Amino acid sequence: MIGAQWGDEGKGKVIDWLADRADVVVRFQGGNNAGHTIVVGKTTYKFSLLPSGVAQGKLSILGNGVVIDPWALLDEIARVRKQGLTITPEVLVVADNAALVLPLHRDLDSAREARAGAGKIGTTGRGVGPAYEDKVGRRAIRVCDLGDEAALKAKIERLLAHHEPLRRGLGLTEVTPEGLLADLADVAPKIEPFVQPAWRLLRKAVKGGRRILFEGAQATMLDVDHGTYPFVTSSNTVAGQAAAGSGVGPAAGGYVLGIVKAYTTRVGEGPFPSELTDKTGERLGTRGHEFGTVTGRKRRCGWFDAVLVRQSVAISGIQGIVLTKLDVLDGFETLKICTGYKLGDEILDYLPAGVRQQAAVTPIYEEIEGWSEITRGARSWRELPAAAVKYIRRIEYLIGAQVSLVTTSPDRDDIIMIRDPYRG
Ligand code: GDP
Ligand code: IMO
Ligand code: MG
Repeated sequence: MIGAQWGDEGKGKVIDWLADRADVVVRFQGGNNAGHTIVVGKTTYKFSLLPSGVAQGKLSILGNGVVIDPWALLDEIARVRKQGLTITPEVLVVADNAALVLPLHRDLDSAREARAGAGKIGTTGRGVGPAYEDKVGRRAIRVCDLGDEAALKAKIERLLAHHEPLRRGLGLTEVTPEGLLADLADVAPKIEPFVQPAWRLLRKAVKGGRRILFEGAQATMLDVDHGTYPFVTSSNTVAGQAAAGSGVGPAAGGYVLGIVKAYTTRVGEGPFPSELTDKTGERLGTRGHEFGTVTGRKRRCGWFDAVLVRQSVAISGIQGIVLTKLDVLDGFETLKICTGYKLGDEILDYLPAGVRQQAAVTPIYEEIEGWSEITRGARSWRELPAAAVKYIRRIEYLIGAQVSLVTTSPDRDDIIMIRDPYRG
């Protein structure tokens, strides 16, 4: 399951619901820049790095495509243990070939953003971008290096040869090899019990016909290739990444479920054609409690953009849709859906790649009748007002994909199943 807008579509809630019938849950990209919320009765779990499967005690894997901040992981484990979850090596597996996020990545992320002025991306400041840079630059320290002092020494030298000039240029203090080595030596024994070649475990699961749920973080419009570059995250977030980021073949990916809000939000900078900076936008944000899970930042809000989602459906080969937060639209007299863009005299049915074009497109809307009834908490299709059904049908038509699930509150059980995603 992958996000098909700009993130925060409600992936945590839906992964948790789907995990009930899964055997394994795998994260395959991103890091602790993600924030996935699950509400179970009076308890709210917020996962950044841990796969949402841990809420159900399912085998949960952090695949090789994830970048892992070991300190953040340990903090998160401690936090959710306090909430009563069991996190043992039987439940949590960390891929041995995943790259690490280090304190120097966090420093670089913040220092660059602070200097970027109007060009800032609005990152989550977790160091995720710089960590991926080092991975692709072939100087990352990986999970498997943690317990290997000789390997670590050589790698730290190579890494600092790259980072020290950068740090000096940004006015950051020096990182000593001894200090970094000591920090890693301290954290290594706490992480090592969870470490395994995750691909082997997944191979066994595939062979044994187990149900594997791939949990996307971020979303298609934040994808480093297909998103609103450079206002994106630093990983591939599309469905195709599920295979590469966990070490299974593409056929193991199976059914592709995309998740979208019944409207649109974005946190951070970058183009957002259907953004509403007026009272209606405020109303969506207030009703939807649109504040970032990780950073607490206010999310920008706007109408449903069918052009973007249609593009996501194509890029990720989405076969079914989860439409979330329908209840947030309760009480709006009229709703709008973006069906195309205007760029000068041209009409476009897709978002162009150029940064200037992306910023310049203006939405073409169609209006659709809202509903005064309450959908919050609805658990069956029959409970939905006719106008809400019409809205969903119109979205399906415009994006070229069918809705499988609709969610109507943050609570685990408030979900309407139209088609069972496990039956395709
Ligand atoms: P994720 O990053 O995609 O997992 O989404 P987040 O957890 O960052 O943000 C989604 C927010 O919406 C969370 O606070 C959820 O509890 C909440 N949420 C999820 N589904 C629904 C829904 O159907 N209705 C309402 N009102 N809130 C929802
Ligand atoms: P979930 O999984 C929403 C955004 C940041 C910023 C850009 C780059 O909860 O949907 P980064 O820290 O990744 O370098 O920031 O990406 N971003 C998210 N926005 N939801 C997320 O995750 C996000 N993860 C990163 O706001 O615009
Ligand atoms: Mg989130």
